[in-house]
Amino acid sequence: MNRIETITSQCGDSELAPFLRAAGRAALTGGSIIRQLYDKPHTIEMKGAINLVTEADLASETAIVASLNEDMPGLAIMAEESAGDAPEEPRGRTWIIDPLDGTTNFAHGFPFFAVSIALVDDALPQVGVVYCPMQDELFCACRGKGAWLNSGRISVTTTRFPVEALVATGFPYDIHARLDTVLQQLRSVLPKVRDIRRAGAAAVDLAYVACGRLDGFWEMDLKPWDTAAGWLLVEEAGGRVTDFAGNPYSAFLPEILASNSALHDRFVDMLT
Ligand code: IPD
Ligand code: CA
Ligand code: CA
Repeated sequence: MNRIETITSQCGDSELAPFLRAAGRAALTGGSIIRQLYDKPHTIEMKGAINLVTEADLASETAIVASLNEDMPGLAIMAEESAGDAPEEPRGRTWIIDPLDGTTNFAHGFPFFAVSIALVDDALPQVGVVYCPMQDELFCACRGKGAWLNSGRISVTTTRFPVEALVATGFPYDIHARLDTVLQQLRSVLPKVRDIRRAGAAAVDLAYVACGRLDGFWEMDLKPWDTAAGWLLVEEAGGRVTDFAGNPYSAFLPEILASNSALHDRFVDMLT
């Protein structure tokens, strides 16, 4: 049995299983296109001062949308490269897609990036898939049923002390406008934890919190396609996701704090 079938059968949710299967297939399809383009010359365009888009973002998005439409015709789609800059909270069931999270890494040959696909219902994720093509790692979550990496269940760490925690963050594209806040947060968190990573793909950071490679992650100015799938992964793996102040999260909020749960209040203290 392949990993998508193993996960859908373990998930045991007959209503969500077809969506999980469709999201998994679409993520593998997009990821395989990205992997094939990885060591070829790239076409790079600028969406902002440091915000790139490559041929792989566009090709992955086209293939993912086609795959989802084939498996689940008629569902609404919000995909980064066609959604515009100010996406609004959708009503009902919608696919939220980041066809290549970590474009800067991809463009520089730094093999840390992913495809991220979530099925949301009234903006609440029901299914989440993050696929890292270079590592061939498929992270999946199904609301109420758990989270998986390839065919095995995953859970967050049990780390209780910040000094034992490895955490991640990211820097916003409008870094010049946010530099003071970003540096303030680093000044607050860095001396209290074991170390901080800035690997450059928010969806993967969240997947890594879910599977216990990281104890926490925070970032500001993210978009729903960066976090919708990873949010569900973290919660289904036993973690907690809020804004910086510990309030309930929405992928349409500009800031996210994800943790193994045990450390959450400590991170809220550090960030507020
Ligand atoms: C970006 C990555 C990065 C984060 C940025 C995101 P993109 O997504 O997740 O880690 O710091 O804020 O926009 O543009 O590569 O899809
Ligand atoms: Ca992204
Ligand atoms: Ca992207």
